[in-house]
Amino acid sequence: MYKETIDRERMPRHVAIIMDGNGRWAKSHGLARMFGHRQGVETVHRITEAAAELGIRYLTLYAFSTENWNRPQQEVDALMELLVDTIAKETETLMKNNVRLLTIGDLNRLPQKAQDKFRRCMEQTAGNTGLRLVIALSYSARWEIIRAARKLAEEVQSGTLRVEDIDETTVSEHLTTSGIPDPDLLIRTSGEQRISNFLLWQAAYSELYFTPCLWPDFTVDEFYKALIDYQGRERRFGKTSEQLNTNKG
Ligand code: IPE
Ligand code: IPE
Ligand code: MG
Repeated sequence: MYKETIDRERMPRHVAIIMDGNGRWAKSHGLARMFGHRQGVETVHRITEAAAELGIRYLTLYAFSTENWNRPQQEVDALMELLVDTIAKETETLMKNNVRLLTIGDLNRLPQKAQDKFRRCMEQTAGNTGLRLVIALSYSARWEIIRAARKLAEEVQSGTLRVEDIDETTVSEHLTTSGIPDPDLLIRTSGEQRISNFLLWQAAYSELYFTPCLWPDFTVDEFYKALIDYQGRERRFGKTSEQLNTNKG
């Protein structure tokens, strides 16, 4: 029903999602948190397929934040194992749907096995021309901005960059999202209304969509609803509504 309402001419180029609520989903079913994470992988599978089918160019999923390293060790270990299993299981689906896998974040902090799996999958899917699925792993915006500031400082110090040449483009190019357009739509599930250190620079003009739905319960229809909501908004980028409408005519 929702699918037919989507305007294929006004699709967001990049959708980013803060996949939240796995733990609460498990708790509400009387299960351990890991069951929620496992169920969350099913949602990743169906939303990726739906996004690919709709012709969305970029889908970024916040899978593990820098701050998530501070969770109980048992949960961290189990999540890392789940990542490894998921990549092994899902690579075939990515190939089938012509999806290219990319990652952002501090991949080097992941256990070696997880790093290897992700790198192999990125190589294997490098030739795919459909959806770019960007997984944020050990990612946080502040980590990324510090890293960019250091790189810029180093370039200035070594004489390859002039201070006055640092602009929005230079900064963007030094972030881990370099080459990826800014998200048009940023979705967060589970009812929390915060950014939690995700894409702070890139989301400057993203449309925000919050839903109480927990990530394991987030259906394809819920995804379509978010897209329809996005399509009903006027993105002004600091201009007036009149300016935008004159430009259209
Ligand atoms: C999101 O679900 C997944 C990760 C952060 C890894 P949570 O694990 O944060 O679930 P809640 O917020 O505790 O319900
Ligand atoms: C944000 O969720 C990070 C991911 C979805 C990977 P959290 O559950 O970690 O965020 P907070 O703690 O509620 O802000
Ligand atoms: Mg959470």
